Amino acid sequence: MTRQELISAAFAAREKAYTPYSHFKVGAALLAKDGRVFTGCNIENATFTPTNCAERTALFKAVSEGVTEFAMIAVVGSREGERNTLVTSPCGVCRQALYEFCGPEMPVLMAKSEDDFVEMTLGELLPLGFGPANLG
Ligand code: THU
Repeated sequence: MTRQELISAAFAAREKAYTPYSHFKVGAALLAKDGRVFTGCNIENATFTPTNCAERTALFKAVSEGVTEFAMIAVVGSREGERNTLVTSPCGVCRQALYEFCGPEMPVLMAKSEDDFVEMTLGELLPLGFGPANLG
């Protein structure tokens, strides 16, 4: 699976975003170390708080299927009907949720298109992250 293919999977997942309130649609594709790809979209709620980000949807789908080791994630987001003009980076809650399973070295692709993306590690996005190791 190439970086471009993972970004394409994130764009496809974005099509399913349920966003009647923000109209901001996000897709994520999480590549597991076993080669499987788990995709997710953001899912909003009339009471706002239960809204789930695309990244956590993908992560929780994977973990709930027994998959807990990951190689890379791609994220794309933009307002409904618009092209990605800015990269969408994982929110703070998603950085923390990913850190639990992915650790600091995992690449995070934040893409405007398959050929235009910012790549950072999760550790760069969440410096000195608190993870399972901290609890001994
Ligand atoms: N959102 C995501 O799904 N992932 C991100 O990385 C940033 C924000 C969603 C949450 C909400 O449905 C909408 O984008 C606007 O914040």
